[in-house]
Amino acid sequence: STYVVIMAGGIGSRFWPVSRTDYPKQFLDILGTGETLIQQTFRRFERIAPIENIYVVTSTDYAGIVDKQLPLIPKENILTEPERKNTGPCIAYASFKILQRDWNASIIVAPADHLILDQPDFEEVCTQALQFVDIHDALLTIGITPSYANTGYGYIQFDKAVFQPGIHKVITFTEKPDAQRATKFVSSGEYLWNSGIFVWKARSIIHSIEKHLGNLYQLFKEKESWLGTSFERLMIADIYAVCENVSIDVGVMEKAKNVYIIPASFRWSDLGTWNSAWENMGKDVRNNAVAGNGVVVIDTAQCVVHASDEKLVVLQGLQNYIVVDTTDVLLICQKEKEQDIKNYVSEVKKLK
Ligand code: GDD
Ligand code: MG
Repeated sequence: STYVVIMAGGIGSRFWPVSRTDYPKQFLDILGTGETLIQQTFRRFERIAPIENIYVVTSTDYAGIVDKQLPLIPKENILTEPERKNTGPCIAYASFKILQRDWNASIIVAPADHLILDQPDFEEVCTQALQFVDIHDALLTIGITPSYANTGYGYIQFDKAVFQPGIHKVITFTEKPDAQRATKFVSSGEYLWNSGIFVWKARSIIHSIEKHLGNLYQLFKEKESWLGTSFERLMIADIYAVCENVSIDVGVMEKAKNVYIIPASFRWSDLGTWNSAWENMGKDVRNNAVAGNGVVVIDTAQCVVHASDEKLVVLQGLQNYIVVDTTDVLLICQKEKEQDIKNYVSEVKKLK
């Protein structure tokens, strides 16, 4: 049957100061919709898999937040990691766990913090993907038509010939290319962005991990029988203390030969930065996107404003700015400098 793994261990530093290490973006209502991003993600998958088959992998520090925000998820489906080792170990852990339950499991792996509009289209793509991996030993990903040379994404060169209606074979997978290559990829028209959503059989991904991340595979394989026992936490602590920090993209997707892609028909945003949040929020006549109740904007345009409800915020004469007011931090930053926000976080840490 179908399982879902929601990855929720990231720290979302580009959304500082709203996103904090102890309370990152996936647990926040960045867009001002009344729901946090992980709650939206959970609701999206509730319609695709039974709740007892939905897993969340997160840092030990966030287990309590997940439990609180997703009260319907069985506690034993919240898998916690003692250290951040990127998505490779995260996916290995969840896959071994699920395979132990169900040798024929199909898994949809998804980030906790993306925005997907057009739910029916998304469900259709998932159904199509699940049917495909049922009969092919394939690693399937969902592709997005690139609109500019973003260097924070994986780029997928795909075979234009249709492998099966809606599905193409992947020729190359390049994780986070430099600006020059990204520009080339976009203008060639042969590439799609990797959405970071993967569909595969548990046994297919474990087999690929064995092939391309042999050490990680061995660590889990040796102690596999500890999963589901009182030794599981000890096992995970041991593994995470020694395993390498590696993303599934670099560790497996760039190397594997059996990678396929479905070009997405739904609208998607990885909500990676304040600008992408701005794009997806409701706006006033001067294109300001405002989250929070006590905000007054005068002669202000193209701004994204995020305020807590504790203080009135008044802006005059600003254009193309990010303004974020929290109880202890006020950030005012030019929109085009948003990629630098994560650097300020380390600067600020030095001050404290
Ligand atoms: N449990 C857990 N543990 N989750 C993690 C960890 C970890 O150590 N590290 C990251 N995650 C979660 C994040 O919270 C996020 O939901 C997801 O895994 C992806 O990690 P990111 O760190 O956001 O990856 P990225 O954005 O740099 O790149 C990935 O996503 C892009 C699309 O948004 C890649 O898959 C790219 O190829 C892709 O284009
Ligand atoms: Mg991301």
